[in-house]
Amino acid sequence: MIPFIDLKTQYESIKEEIQSAVNATLASTQFVLGKEVAAFEEEFAAYSGGKFGIGVNSGTSALHLALLAAGIRPGDEVITVSCTFVATVAAIDYTGARPVFVDVDPQTLNMDPSQVEAAITDRTKAILPVHLHGQPADMDPILEIAHRHDLRVIEDAAQAHRAEYKGRRVGSIGDLGCFSFYPGKNLGAYGEGGMVVTNNEDFAHTIRMLRDWGQERKYHHTLKGFNYRMEGIQGAILRVKLRHLDAWTEGRRQHAAYFNELLADSGVQTPVEMPYARHVYHVYGVRMPDRDKVQEALQAKGIQTNIHYPIPVHLQKAYENLGYGHGDLPVTEKASAELLSLPMFPELQNAQIEAVCGAVREAVHGG
Ligand SMILES: Cc1ncc(COP(=O)(O)O)c(C=O)c1O
Repeated sequence: MIPFIDLKTQYESIKEEIQSAVNATLASTQFVLGKEVAAFEEEFAAYSGGKFGIGVNSGTSALHLALLAAGIRPGDEVITVSCTFVATVAAIDYTGARPVFVDVDPQTLNMDPSQVEAAITDRTKAILPVHLHGQPADMDPILEIAHRHDLRVIEDAAQAHRAEYKGRRVGSIGDLGCFSFYPGKNLGAYGEGGMVVTNNEDFAHTIRMLRDWGQERKYHHTLKGFNYRMEGIQGAILRVKLRHLDAWTEGRRQHAAYFNELLADSGVQTPVEMPYARHVYHVYGVRMPDRDKVQEALQAKGIQTNIHYPIPVHLQKAYENLGYGHGDLPVTEKASAELLSLPMFPELQNAQIEAVCGAVREAVHGG
C-alpha cells in the first residue's frame, strides 16, 4: 500500500517540537491570533520575500481579502484560470466581481500570458494567476500587461510555498500573494490556515482589519469585516514546520527528479520544470490519454493517486451562470481528462517511487 500523502510519518518525525509548541500556546491561552501568529506572520512573509504577512483562517479567506484590499467590487472583472481548485474562482465570486477565464499554457498548465490582453475590458481590475502544482506562472509578461493597463496582480500561491520565478519567491512578485496552510499543503497546519503576503503597507493594514471584523481597535468597526483570524495553535505549529520546509521541499524535488528519470520514455508526459522556475512539486502530475484506466490499475495494486482536477471550474454546475461551455478552454479541458497525480510527499521512499513507476509502465503498456 502506497499512500498519496503521508501526514503521519511527518508528524512522528517532529512530534516533540510540535507538542511543546502546542502546550506553550495552550498555557498562554492565546487561542486566536496572539504572539505565535504574529511571529509566524513575520517569519513567513520574510520566507516568501515579502514585507508583510497577515495570517488568516484559510487560503480561500486570503484570496477573498486580497481581492477586497485590491479594490475589487461588484461588477468588476478579474482575469484568472479555470485550471485550478475551485477556491480561486469562489473568492472572486465572493466579492461580486466576475471571473473571466483565459486558457493555460499546454506545457505548464499555468495562465497563458499571450491570452490575457484579449480578455481585458474596461471593467477589468486585476489578474489572478495560479502557481499550479507548485510551478510559478510566467509572471513577467503578466506583470508587464498589468502595468500597462493599471491592473493589480494577485498570486494564488496556495500550492507553491517557496517556489521561485527567476530567483524571486512567489507570493511577493505581484501586488498580493495568497497562501494556504491546509494540512496537505507543502506547509500544512493541523487544521485550516492561510496568509496574505504583500509589500504594500496600505493593503496589509486593510487586510488586518478585514480579517478581524473591520476593527481599527476593539469594537470600532471602520470596515465591514469578517471573522477570518488565524488560530494561535496553528501559528505555533506552522512556526515549527516552517523550520523544516526547506528540507521537505528539497525532498519533493529529489522525488520528482527520480520520477522523471524512471518515467522517461514510458508513454506518460512528466511535468516540465521551466527554465525560469523552481518548482516545489506540491503535486506531481503526469498526463496520459487513458488516465482513468491507469488510475484503476494503480488502485488495484494499492497505489493511491488523485486527480487535480477532474472537472475544470468553468464546467462546474455552480459556475454555469458565467456562461462558459465545453470547448471554450481546450487546453484546460484536455488537461483535466489526462492528469493523474502520483504519490508525492517528502517522506516518500525511493523503493515506493520505483513501485509506482513500475506499475504506471505496466498499466500504460499492458493494455
Ligand atoms: C490553488 C488553490 N487556491 C486556493 C486554495 C484554497 O485554500 P484553502 O483550502 O486553505 O481555503 C487551494 C487549496 O485548497 C488551492 O489549491
